[in-house]
Amino acid sequence: MKKQLGVRNCMYPMPTVLAGSNIDGKPNYCTVAYVGILDNSIISISLSKTRYTGAGIKQNGTFSVNYPPTSLVERADWCGIVSGRNEDKSAVFENFYGTLKTAPMIRECRLNMECRLERIIEFPGHDVFAGEIVETWCDEDCLSGAGVDFGKIDPMLFSSGGERGYWRLGERFADPFSAGKNFKP
Ligand SMILES: Cc1cc2nc3c(=O)[nH]c(=O)nc-3n(C[C@H](O)[C@H](O)[C@H](O)COP(=O)(O)O)c2cc1C
Repeated sequence: MKKQLGVRNCMYPMPTVLAGSNIDGKPNYCTVAYVGILDNSIISISLSKTRYTGAGIKQNGTFSVNYPPTSLVERADWCGIVSGRNEDKSAVFENFYGTLKTAPMIRECRLNMECRLERIIEFPGHDVFAGEIVETWCDEDCLSGAGVDFGKIDPMLFSSGGERGYWRLGERFADPFSAGKNFKP
């Protein structure tokens, strides 16, 4: 028996990232769970139109996406509670800049992507910022033979369809593009 839940967005898991932008030359970060992949090198973050971070993205045409490890939960969550309009968030983390020079990134986050704003897709309450990744930065000790080792990145996952919570990554259990080959229809 299935129960109808009404309109409930149960996309899960969502990564919890810190989106960064410069506003009047100063870094600002906000916590974002509405993150997506639009094309191989194009990612999106969906921000309520009221977010200060969005104003910075529009100012410079650049932004960053940073993966806080679970150990940074207090600082990462705080960036999702207070707005840069009222509180200076520029010194919460150690900032660094990469290729684009105007997309602030967080040294303590083990994985960072800097993006050039490609387009803004407007919805009544949210602006979806689509950005082309121009560089990806990763702590060397979080790389393995295959590339980024997400076990070491230790990302914060977020659930919101029911009880809201932060989750850790689970276990890898199968090989994509391979497990299906064992299926005989
Ligand atoms: C776990 C979590 C996820 C969030 N995800 C989003 C999101 O996807 N989009 C959004 O607009 N706000 C999101 N927020 C709220 C913003 O992070 C929050 O309003 C923040 O204070 C905005 O900061 P700013 O005004 O400095 O940009 C989230 C907050 C938390 C705690």
